[in-house]
Amino acid sequence: MKKAIYPGSFDPVTFGHLDIIRRAAESFDELTVSVLNNVNKRALFTVDERVAMLKEATKDIPNIKVESFCGLLIDYAKEKDIHTVIRGLRAITDFEYELQNAQTNRMLSKGELDTMFLATSLEYAYLSSSSVKEIASFGGDISPCVPTFVAEAIYAKYKGESL
Ligand code: PNS
Repeated sequence: MKKAIYPGSFDPVTFGHLDIIRRAAESFDELTVSVLNNVNKRALFTVDERVAMLKEATKDIPNIKVESFCGLLIDYAKEKDIHTVIRGLRAITDFEYELQNAQTNRMLSKGELDTMFLATSLEYAYLSSSSVKEIASFGGDISPCVPTFVAEAIYAKYKGESL
């Protein structure tokens, strides 16, 4: 079985992430989308909320699993017997960080964990979770960036409502 993992913060999931997820799911038998539980990074959504949003947004794709992980990606991937990481590249500015991560994971795993990059579709090249949050925090329109239920959840967070 050809398996891959798409790790990320997904705070929250955007149409850019969903573009990568759909396309990667076509090339693998099983794609695990996994939310990093990073205690050092302040997030708008809890890990459970992010996992729930990803599950809802990908519920029509049969070969997707959504989980969370903490610690090193190589340890988590080894536990699941996964040898391929998927990451999206939006622009040249992503490249340096992604290349470093990919090479670090390859070194740490002694060649067991490799990374495959998908070029983000042009219509989502500008998109990031951070910019979506910033636009929403000022009441801007984020409907072109995220599914409707995610947009509602973001606005609710900024209004201080519980989800
Ligand atoms: O969506 P993000 O924040 O760009 O995702 C970054 C992520 C989760 C892929 C990366 O930070 C990661 O894999 N963190 C886990 C810790 C780890 O394994 N670090 C070593 C590789 S540099």
